Amino acid sequence: FPVDRIRNFCIIAHIDHGKSTLADRLLELTGAIAKTEKNKQVLDKLQVERERGITVKAQTASLFYSHQGEQYLLNLIDTPGHVDFSYEVSRSISACQGVLLIVDANQGIQAQTVANFYLAFEAQLAIIPVINKIDLKNADPERAESQIEKVFDIPAEECIRISAKLGTNVEKVLQAVVDRIPPPDHPFKALVFDSNFDHYRGVVANIAVFGGRVRKGDRIVSAHLNKTYEVNELGLLRPDEHPTQRLFAGQVGYIIAGMKDVKEAQIGDTLYLQEQPVEPLPGFKPAKAMVFAGMYPVDQSEYPGLRSAIDRLTLNDSSVTVQRDSSLALGAGWRLGFLGLLHMEVFNQRLEQEYNASVIVTAPTVPYRAVLSSAKLIKNRRAVQKNMIYIDDQRVMMKYLFPLNEIVVDFYDVLKSMSSGYASFDYENAGYQTADLVKMDILLNGRSVEELTTIVHRERAYRTGKAMCERLKDSIPRQMFEIAVQAAIGSKILARETIKAYRKNVLAKCYGGDITRKMKLLKKQAEGKKKMRRIGNIDVPKDAFISVLKRK
Ligand code: GTP
Repeated sequence: FPVDRIRNFCIIAHIDHGKSTLADRLLELTGAIAKTEKNKQVLDKLQVERERGITVKAQTASLFYSHQGEQYLLNLIDTPGHVDFSYEVSRSISACQGVLLIVDANQGIQAQTVANFYLAFEAQLAIIPVINKIDLKNADPERAESQIEKVFDIPAEECIRISAKLGTNVEKVLQAVVDRIPPPDHPFKALVFDSNFDHYRGVVANIAVFGGRVRKGDRIVSAHLNKTYEVNELGLLRPDEHPTQRLFAGQVGYIIAGMKDVKEAQIGDTLYLQEQPVEPLPGFKPAKAMVFAGMYPVDQSEYPGLRSAIDRLTLNDSSVTVQRDSSLALGAGWRLGFLGLLHMEVFNQRLEQEYNASVIVTAPTVPYRAVLSSAKLIKNRRAVQKNMIYIDDQRVMMKYLFPLNEIVVDFYDVLKSMSSGYASFDYENAGYQTADLVKMDILLNGRSVEELTTIVHRERAYRTGKAMCERLKDSIPRQMFEIAVQAAIGSKILARETIKAYRKNVLAKCYGGDITRKMKLLKKQAEGKKKMRRIGNIDVPKDAFISVLKRK
């Protein structure tokens, strides 16, 4: 049933003013029960209720009602009128959006009429006043109506005069239920699934609304961080921001609520209205970082700027994990975790393009747990087939156990090209396994380049080391002196390449004495050097680091 055609209401009244009788009529009118003498006070199911003719326990009945060509589902909750059972009334009220407030035309407002009215009023329910028993000889509906106007501040015209006993005007009551009671409105509940930082407006969070609605000016709470904000702006993404007055359940949009710190709009967090706390949504399974690399500013003076750039970028990409780290050679920096190598490169590129940051990225590694014991000596197979399932005559699904470092860098690309793009690949963590691994250093003129230190399988060390040396040779420009590029395990050298000495004379094309032009060229060369990382007296371009780590 569409929620806009559901009405939840209860009937409240002073004792004996006719709730159960009206309920019977409503049930009959909507065909829920047959209209016979026997069907009296059908919602009073308990024996004690029937014997005493009073309602003790709240009862519920669902009615189907057609109004102006539309089917409505009316959920009626009958409540007891006696003061002893007012707990039942408040419980019923909390499940409803509206009430029928019955007043006996003869007796007028009584104590429980007032008490029950306030319960409904405080719960901000729609209140429909119904004057009952107008068939009675002494009925004085005008008096009852003016009491309602005076005591409850409800205009007399809003009252519906009925005889529950005879069924007079009961149809009008049903119409009023549909017209005057709003459909159920679940508490606002939204999931933050993305967010970004805008310099002028602060944090812009993308949300999916799972329940209720939110408006500008509402006070909302972030469930995990438990902070309260006022909604300044919200709207839909079409795909540009399109401000609206509200966001409803089922809608996806953006919200700006004065979050200043980039960490405030945590992806996976739940937002709710301050006055209507809800259970937080399950959120997202935290992404599991598979590749780790150190990130350092080229110059330590750039540390604060880089920190805020990384903070902002990780707000936008919460799958990146960040830990502070420092190294003797590189100073203060971070250890970042990524989902894969491409992810790492994209992150690095975004840092440069969107935040104008210049960073040194160390050799990516996968998480290892090192146990220094002879059990490493155990020969390890690099991939173990687990199973093979024919999905149909065209497709087969194979499961292998792989060491993560075998697949993380380029396995996907190789697989795709080998299968002309038909094969697809996915992986999940299968835990740690023992393996025969060695730590391999890359040396430039005998000095270890910390960023390029890698952990490799012993059997692959030579091949990997040789390839890395070759690629470094290609990506480090010649300098004024000869450079030896070596791969080593401990003191054992595995591979060597040599970069011949050479000096790029930027002034070669300058004839004559145009000093300003010379200065310009020298300045340009100096700026180019900024993008270099100096290891010993060797300038290594930043790009060399990533290109070296990729396999061909
Ligand atoms: P509790 O369940 O005890 O809270 O009472 P209630 O408010 O449900 O009242 P109920 O419907 O049991 O009606 C009380 C008495 O008023 C019964 O004897 C009904 O027959 C009578 N009554 C209800 N509606 C009308 C009406 O419209 N006209 C007349 N004349 N009597 C009515």
